[in-house]
Amino acid sequence: MWFRRNKFPPGPYSGLKGWSFRALNQSPLEMFSDLARYGDVVGVRVVNFRNIFINHPQLIEEVLVSHPRRYIKGRVLRAYRHVFGDGLLTSEGDFWLRQRRLVQPAFHRARIAAYAQTMVEYTERMLESWRAGEERDVHQEMMRLTLQIVAKTLFDADVARDAKDVGKSLELLLELGADFRRTLFVPHWVPTLTNLRIKREIAFIESIIYRIIGERRTSGRDTGDLLSMLLRAQDEDGLRMTDKQLRDETITLFLAGHETTASSLSWTWWLLARNPAVEAKLHAELDEVLGGRAPSIDDLARLPYTANVITESLRLYPPAWGLARIAVENHELAGYPVKKGMGVAMAQWVVHRDTRWYHAPEEFRPERWEGDFAKRIPRFAYFPFGGGPRQCIGNNFASMEAALILATVAQKYRLHLVPHHPVVPLASVTLRPRYGVRVLLESRQARPRDILPPESRPARQAVSAD
Ligand code: HEM
Repeated sequence: MWFRRNKFPPGPYSGLKGWSFRALNQSPLEMFSDLARYGDVVGVRVVNFRNIFINHPQLIEEVLVSHPRRYIKGRVLRAYRHVFGDGLLTSEGDFWLRQRRLVQPAFHRARIAAYAQTMVEYTERMLESWRAGEERDVHQEMMRLTLQIVAKTLFDADVARDAKDVGKSLELLLELGADFRRTLFVPHWVPTLTNLRIKREIAFIESIIYRIIGERRTSGRDTGDLLSMLLRAQDEDGLRMTDKQLRDETITLFLAGHETTASSLSWTWWLLARNPAVEAKLHAELDEVLGGRAPSIDDLARLPYTANVITESLRLYPPAWGLARIAVENHELAGYPVKKGMGVAMAQWVVHRDTRWYHAPEEFRPERWEGDFAKRIPRFAYFPFGGGPRQCIGNNFASMEAALILATVAQKYRLHLVPHHPVVPLASVTLRPRYGVRVLLESRQARPRDILPPESRPARQAVSAD
């Protein structure tokens, strides 16, 4: 549209005043939801840096699928390059493409199917330490479990001890790096106390990863894990990854592959505990199909409601709650010019709650995904794993893992929310429950000693997510 050619889209912070840092700091989710009230294309100025916030699936598709080469990853993710290096999440252009081609086979359906057993085994091992009547932070449990699973599938058991050390270090790293605003405004080379601790943890993780790579190169053994696949991968010129590339990809997979899945499961437990009718339907499906035995990958096709529970949980609480890009070429969105250097942001948190695509969007209704609903909404009305060439490489891995863990745990336990414990979303790099999700465990395999006496059975209560 010619009349918009030089215009910056309207928005609350499009004038000289600029972005309200306070609003961003205090409640980014609320802030993005507010921005969406200005329309599908919203202008936001951060000091003198211009951003466009897009809310329509078609515009999101245009950026992620139709013109991905006109954009690079946003400033927040780029600020983490000292951690991820040139791993898949943060690299760009031809280098990224070459790496993606090398890593992709490791995530082939047949290959990840082999990890299903590990996922169930580790979940059962976790359950061995659970006792009916106990109180636990299920977010902590899910974090530990998904970390063990990604460690085992990346490095295999022969380095279980190392995986544990790397895990601990990564956990600390995640904690230290969780505040993306600090990461964005305090460069990693400034010797603050936090930056020095981050540097120390990275050095520790690197020393272990480089040692494992060295050992594997010497022995030439294929242990069936992701690292073996990465070591053997070579491109059409016969080139293999250097140790540095392997280090970057390994750390990326470790970090990208565990907190996201853990958070999505934590939100799922919380949603189930607040929606007993959904929980009962899930239990009925699991009981009918599995009858108490451990699930396998072959069972997943016969557990459609379980899959819908996860799909719906990823809609309401998407661990990747927003995506950001920077234009490296001029582009135009809905008639507004996107000039080189401008930022473009989109938020799953907002689009997944848009009444144009979802009836009663705040309600947790796995049933909405029955039939051909997914086909009837625009492709990018639902994009928990992103889209286009930069789509999450671990989406099948994560979906399988979430379904298997959910099925294994829900067959054995009902999780009740501990009254008055605040369950509040923290929109950090991922969307996670700020204070965890505290639950009381009730055995579903009602052995007499496991049944909670009525007086200790917690009343169902509403816990606000706001
Ligand atoms: C519920 C779990 C998960 C969610 C919601 C999720 C979400 C995402 C999203 C939205 C992106 C795209 C980011 C962007 O376009 O800027 C992404 C990329 C990525 N994810 Fe995931 N992810 C999950 C699990 C995993 C797992 C299990 C792994 C690996 C084991 C993984 C590895 C990656 C990698 C390597 C990328 C970068 C891909 C590339 O650019 O080529 N993710 N993820």
